[in-house]
Amino acid sequence: MSNKLQGKVAIVTGGASGIGEATARLFADNGASMVVIADIQDNLGCQLAESIGNHRCSYVHCNVADEGQVKSMVEATVNKFGHLDIMFSNAGIMSSEKQTVLDFDITAFDRLFDVNVRGMASCVKHAARVMVEGRVRGSIVCTASVGANHGMSKDTDYCMSKHAVLGLMRSASLQLGVHGIRVNCVSPNGMATPLTCKASGMEMAELQKVYEKFARLRGVALKAEHVAKAVLFLASDDSEFVSGHDLVVDGSFVPP
Ligand SMILES: NC(=O)c1ccc[n+]([C@@H]2O[C@H](COP(=O)([O-])OP(=O)(O)OC[C@H]3O[C@@H](n4cnc5c(N)ncnc54)[C@H](O)[C@@H]3O)[C@@H](O)[C@H]2O)c1
Repeated sequence: MSNKLQGKVAIVTGGASGIGEATARLFADNGASMVVIADIQDNLGCQLAESIGNHRCSYVHCNVADEGQVKSMVEATVNKFGHLDIMFSNAGIMSSEKQTVLDFDITAFDRLFDVNVRGMASCVKHAARVMVEGRVRGSIVCTASVGANHGMSKDTDYCMSKHAVLGLMRSASLQLGVHGIRVNCVSPNGMATPLTCKASGMEMAELQKVYEKFARLRGVALKAEHVAKAVLFLASDDSEFVSGHDLVVDGSFVPP
């Protein structure tokens, strides 16, 4: 492993599972001095922080849908660890309903937007504020999706929320560039994680097979670790002049 993040302090929201978990591990393996996992799955998050090592990883309960909790979590990170260099705003959910336009459950849509859009905006806002205040030329990475650039045959609320994440990232990158802060997105293709297994009712292996059809690339199946490597690139100085970019990790997406 390299030391691409030597001395950096990072927050990973939704870091207890899936893409967030893989990224928290990769950040720590690349020399981050502290990785703060912010999530609502307290047991999983604490276990993960322990397995990475409490000297370089800690867990904080934070519901990103609640701006007050995001503000406290970000400020506590700076108070405890001195500064914030990287915000990986990754927490996201899917509705349990199909959410086709004709059967749109607007209450479920609101719940999803609270996390995927409001939560994302709160994380970008409060991370940017402490970076500006601390004069840190930081990196903010948001998890969007292939669904941010295409329509979807269902999950309309999810697709809309990921389009909104791109708008947030593009606006934030324009506004924060003057402070030396970079803002980018990572957009994975579909893959089997606890999120998608729960939404589809399928097991990991079965769902992975379904997702293979959505990529032209053969011989490799998308895993959380592939996305984590793209996030590491955007978080580190390897992408020093990259801002306002949506890095797709999709093996050449095949629209359904
Ligand atoms: N799995 C995929 O196919 C896929 C594809 C494209 C984009 N994404 C996006 O990747 C991100 C991570 O998803 P994943 O697949 O790793 O799923 P996951 O369920 O494994 O991880 C998501 C994490 O977010 C946490 N979370 C949910 N609501 C939260 C809240 N209100 N506050 C704080 N944390 C919360 C969950 O507890 C969980 O640990 C999401 O934004 C998702 O939309 C996933």
